[in-house]
Amino acid sequence: MSEPVIVRTQRDLRGGVWEWRGYGKTIAFVPTMGALHEGHLSLIKLAKKSADRVIASIFVNPTQFAPGEDFESYPRTEKSDVAKLASAGCDMVYIPRQGSMYNAHHATQIKVGGVAENLETDHRPTFFEGVALVVTKLLNRVAPDIAIFGEKDYQQLATIRRLVADLDMPIKIVGAPIARDDHGLALSSRNQYFDVNGLNKARALNKIMFDCAKQIRGGQDIAKATDKAKHELLTAGYSGIDYVTVACANSLELAHSGQVSKPSRLLIAAHCEGVRLIDNCAV
Ligand code: PAJ
Repeated sequence: MSEPVIVRTQRDLRGGVWEWRGYGKTIAFVPTMGALHEGHLSLIKLAKKSADRVIASIFVNPTQFAPGEDFESYPRTEKSDVAKLASAGCDMVYIPRQGSMYNAHHATQIKVGGVAENLETDHRPTFFEGVALVVTKLLNRVAPDIAIFGEKDYQQLATIRRLVADLDMPIKIVGAPIARDDHGLALSSRNQYFDVNGLNKARALNKIMFDCAKQIRGGQDIAKATDKAKHELLTAGYSGIDYVTVACANSLELAHSGQVSKPSRLLIAAHCEGVRLIDNCAV
């Protein structure tokens, strides 16, 4: 296991990237906010198979947190993150200094339409603007051949695909499957907020979701199946539901009722013990 090179400035990042480029190496990039778990590491492993060199970034991006969200308390665990990245075979970790990403004069925003509308945006209206901005900046700084994002954040992945295509960035965006624990709970940095009781409740979500998707696949009316799933989530102890919605797997156009007629995705966001969980699966 060799230690990844840690770079904190654009100068050191570019120096490393140019050196690899000079040797004709291809580069895959995995942006993260740290607090790494096996889900993140599955992206690193996929990146290793996809390119000669792998760069991960760790940056808790303030612009994608709304006031009152957990920006301040978001877990910051740099030392153990770097150790995990080393064990997964990551070659370089880019950890921009706080303050180097947005200077006092920053005045540019990026607003993605289409796939970035509805779903998360109904509940976190400025979220994708923050994500689009930081991902654009990171992709410009790293200039990789490939960038890998998890299907766990399905709408985020679709938004980044749109952004990269619309802005002519010569980067291949690759989606990675959702990593789950032994009980099917999608791994998330925020799962560490749960106690044992909360974790058990949280694990109900994936069972309800897969069951709902199965019913819809079997011809059940979308509205009936999603209403049932909402009821089941509340019965399982969830305190609130932002959405249980079926959408076209590519355009994310919503399908409110009837039967599915094209490749679709069931997407859920719900609150459990003060933690907001998102998950999704193919229908
Ligand atoms: P973060 O939540 O740290 O996630 C980093 C990457 O890991 C994202 O692409 C996310 O989809 C993926 N990921 C998280 N949990 C996963 C799981 N259980 N299975 C598979 N992939 C998983 O997403 C972000 O950070 C930020 O919005 C970011 C893109 C870095 C921009 O700030």
